[in-house]
Amino acid sequence: MSWDRLRDLRARWTRRHLLGLEELSADEMKIVLDAAALFKAMPEETLRQGAPLRGKRVFTLFLESSTRTKTSFVLAARRLGADLVDFSPASSSIMKGESIKDTARNIEAMGVDSVVIRHSASGAPLYLSRLLKANVLNGGDGAHEHPTQGLLDIFTILEEKSSVAGLTVALVGDIAFSRVARSNIHGLTRLGARVILVAPPTLLPDGVDRLGVAVSHDFDSVLPRCDVVMCLRLQLERQQAGLFPSLQEYMRLFGLDEARMKRARPDVLVMHPGPMNRGIEVTSAVADGGRSVILRQVTNGIAVRMAALYLLADK
Ligand code: NCD
Repeated sequence: MSWDRLRDLRARWTRRHLLGLEELSADEMKIVLDAAALFKAMPEETLRQGAPLRGKRVFTLFLESSTRTKTSFVLAARRLGADLVDFSPASSSIMKGESIKDTARNIEAMGVDSVVIRHSASGAPLYLSRLLKANVLNGGDGAHEHPTQGLLDIFTILEEKSSVAGLTVALVGDIAFSRVARSNIHGLTRLGARVILVAPPTLLPDGVDRLGVAVSHDFDSVLPRCDVVMCLRLQLERQQAGLFPSLQEYMRLFGLDEARMKRARPDVLVMHPGPMNRGIEVTSAVADGGRSVILRQVTNGIAVRMAALYLLADK
């Protein structure tokens, strides 16, 4: 039953690569979300027997650190029955100065079917997709996009709320340097949510007026209206110094703590893509509290990445 439905979804999917949510239509996102729901509900045994990626080689090329994204892509590929080649940069020739183009040619020569890439440069997955016959899945590129994270966030919201359309979602904190923010902005607005970016002016990206979102610098006034609050990690590794006075000041204005939670709706969802700076973006009491779906986001990452790998695999 679910294999038939998955095959139908795959027949409607046309793309060879998953590079960003900016280029996906609402229908395309729904295909991934529906496939993810089917994979999440599928019994182990059915999955083992079906193994739709048996004989396919999936290559994970993570050139920036990752915990959740890489692990869940690895688990997703394995659960689909794929052969997985996990690339660790410390032992690879990239450390000897090999260009990404040469790395790409070499992985192609090994007959790889899908490549999941994480890279510090925005556009690296697009570049790779033009060189390779393999499917390319963006596992996060610089401050640009992180499409599977955006989709797993939307999937998690949909488990709790009947529809994304009409919801008010606040993305709080470091928007300028966050690929998670950018993918969520594209995905959520396309599905009809009202997105409010809550951040100090120094942490907002250029061209924010073209994104179809509202902007506020006052978290306390926005919070009572929110169905979802997504806290974003301060991307300290991508920032220059001096974008806000101090971490204490940031916490006071943009951190989510229990005192601030009193202003929120009782059914608000608290999200964070991880890794969390506990006590800065969100306190432990809130992150581990009753309104948090932060670990559910992590769990759902596997099903969403299974869906992405599955849909692309025959293109
Ligand atoms: C994010 C990333 O690396 O883009 N983490 C993740 O994939 N869950 C967010 C971050 O680094 O803050």
